[in-house]
Amino acid sequence: MTVHILSLRALLLLGLYHTGRRSLASAADLQDPPKKIAVVGAGIGGTAAAYYLRQEFGPLVKIDVFEPGSIGGRLATVKIGDHEYESGGAVIHPLNLHMKHFIEKLGLPPRKDLSSKMAIFDGKELVFEESNWFIINFFRMIWQYGFNFLRMQMWVESVLDKFMRIYQYQQHSYSFSSMERLLHAMGGDAFLTLMNQTLEEAMLAEGFSQVFLNNVVTPITRVNYGQSVRINGFVGVVSLAGADSGLWAVDGGNKRVCTGLLYHSKSELIPAKVTSVSFKVRPSKRGISNSFYEVNYVDESGSAHGLYDIVIIATPLHLGKSDITFSGFSPPIPSHYPGRYHQTVATLVHGVLNVSYLGTTEPASDFTVSDILTVDSKDCIINSLGSLDPVHIPDGYKRPPASEAKVWKVFSPQPLSQQQLQNMFLSHDSVSETPWLAYPSYRPPQRKSPPFILHNRLYYINAVEWAASAMEMSSISARNMALLAHHRWYQQEGKIDQEDLHMRLRGEL
Ligand SMILES: Cc1cc2nc3c(=O)[nH]c(=O)nc-3n(C[C@H](O)[C@H](O)[C@H](O)COP(=O)(O)OP(=O)(O)OC[C@H]3O[C@@H](n4cnc5c(N)ncnc54)[C@H](O)[C@@H]3O)c2cc1C
Ligand SMILES: *[C@@H]1O[C@H](CO)[C@@H](O)[C@H](O)[C@H]1NC(C)=O
Ligand SMILES: *[C@@H]1O[C@H](CO)[C@@H](O)[C@H](O)[C@H]1NC(C)=O
Repeated sequence: MTVHILSLRALLLLGLYHTGRRSLASAADLQDPPKKIAVVGAGIGGTAAAYYLRQEFGPLVKIDVFEPGSIGGRLATVKIGDHEYESGGAVIHPLNLHMKHFIEKLGLPPRKDLSSKMAIFDGKELVFEESNWFIINFFRMIWQYGFNFLRMQMWVESVLDKFMRIYQYQQHSYSFSSMERLLHAMGGDAFLTLMNQTLEEAMLAEGFSQVFLNNVVTPITRVNYGQSVRINGFVGVVSLAGADSGLWAVDGGNKRVCTGLLYHSKSELIPAKVTSVSFKVRPSKRGISNSFYEVNYVDESGSAHGLYDIVIIATPLHLGKSDITFSGFSPPIPSHYPGRYHQTVATLVHGVLNVSYLGTTEPASDFTVSDILTVDSKDCIINSLGSLDPVHIPDGYKRPPASEAKVWKVFSPQPLSQQQLQNMFLSHDSVSETPWLAYPSYRPPQRKSPPFILHNRLYYINAVEWAASAMEMSSISARNMALLAHHRWYQQEGKIDQEDLHMRLRGEL
């Protein structure tokens, strides 16, 4: 390193660069790149962060990704017989552009598409069953709910249109320092209001009927988030979009995206659990102090630590999700933020369904419903029941009817008892239960959301889950953090929290 650069760095640190845009840019060019970056967690958020950090900071920086469990986190599969099945995050929306970009970049094909058929269960009987004929469904819906259905699609689409702006901003390297800034840049005050209202309040205000909310919207929020229409309006819309057509998954399992991104980013995987992150200041010879983050971790062989210039937290900082101590920070950073994660138990059963449990008199051999949603009723112990296809669809595969033994996925807030399983299935030979702390327990109005920036160069991806939890949300947040970390490192303030981007970028298209 030359003396020339060192003295410029000194100027930078003293803040004397604030003399104008031009000198700022040239000073920024001379800022040394970071040497080491730590990412804590190898779910889709952490691995996408590694990918985007590599893109932003170039080939020289060393990126370490810490993960004590399996790569993929909440994207996980379970083996039953000869096949693997998704037990966590399962479906991806056609407009989830980052997820789409990842599989294209990594050369992963989407899973083969199979048709589906939906029904709604009230704990006693099926109150709605989709017909094989689109036109019949269409008229039945119009008959029951008037134009609520069409209007809902338009409403969701209008929110989605604004949501899509984030891709353009990120394409142009813009980043946001908080969730409020990010949401405001996408959808203005209307998006912030969605965060402060329940989906129910938002939809009633839009003129949707309570009956429609109870019978159609609630089943959708229950299957996607295990919760009622009292979740916030933003995650509510994300949930409704999750009922669109064209949903897809990754052939071989969604978690393959995570292993692929990790490999592609040329990061090092450290199979260890991070126990604490400490802020350390080291005085150096020239009187300029250097600061680092000391990441302490434990693995089978004991404990160790590493020093990093930038740290990205890619796991929820909530009770039961992680337990990381932050020391040396002022103001202090808590191990756990307020609010809790909601439990959804995924039970995968290989067996023969008791179709009478659903109150239907159809012969099981004719029962071809694949997705059974539920209304909010005390009779309903489950959130949903679905016929599950393997992560890789073999050639000539045909989904068996309910009369044959096959794999079903049950989502419920509590584990199912032996008695309940015996009631639901005439016979079963395999049960695999995963009790997920799946997504936030949404209780709007949202108090202050957790920060994106925990400290100078310490960032928090999963804060975004309090707006909505989904693979794409973690991916968007990961890219935002990589951009934010880059722009803050090189003092490119012009790329952070810009107002009216939507209008300004219009001309650049
Ligand atoms: C049952 C279920 C169904 C879902 N369905 C969908 C769906 O259909 N579509 C969709 O888009 N989303 C769905 N989601 C949500 C989606 O799975 C999550 O939003 C997403 O996977 C979160 O990814 P993440 O990387 O941010 O967090 P995680 O996947 O939770 O990754 C965090 C990682 O950090 C690790 N970690 C924790 N503590 C430490 C530590 N101290 N040191 C190092 N590492 C640590 C964990 O082991 C974990 O691997 C579903 C979730 C569940 C549970
Ligand atoms: C949302 O609610 C919080 C707490 O009630 C409040 O501080 C915040 O200003 C509200 N935001 C909007 C956009 O209404
Ligand atoms: C199937 O479900 C019905 C309705 O819940 C129940 O009466 C019956 O006992 C169940 N069958 C078995 C074999 O458990």
